[in-house]
Amino acid sequence: MRLAVLKTLSVGGVITLCMLPLFGVKANDAALGREIYQDTCAVCHGRDMVSSGLAFDLRKFPLTEFDRFQNAVMNGKPPGMPGWRSQLSTEDVRAIWDYVKTGG
Ligand code: HEC
Repeated sequence: MRLAVLKTLSVGGVITLCMLPLFGVKANDAALGREIYQDTCAVCHGRDMVSSGLAFDLRKFPLTEFDRFQNAVMNGKPPGMPGWRSQLSTEDVRAIWDYVKTGG
């Protein structure tokens, strides 16, 4: 019964996203981060993190440097990169970071 339900649910990306909590917080955070990324960052950093050359290629961001990441996102990197302190919470930044760590 449960398997059949899962099979039905796994059709379609949106439904798959809703199911991610079943697989643990990590995947959920990355999925949330991906949504925030596509809404907020993709315009410059490229869809799915594939940089158009306009901005830093986030797939190349050093994954040991969360502080640098958080600082860049919250405070910006003038003149090209705006700061997001007024729009994103630290949880949002952590979620985006989880997404960045997936490599897009
Ligand atoms: C208006 C365009 C724009 C948007 C929107 C934008 N960025 Fe950037 N971002 C840039 C540019 C340009 C750079 C390169 C700045 C530099 O290195 O001088 C950059 C650099 C960065 C860096 C590298 C900083 C470093 O330490 O080298 C990170 C991390 C980053 N952006 C994350 C994000 C995230 C996450 C978002 C969404 C919340 C975002 N950016 C939204 C333009 C943008």
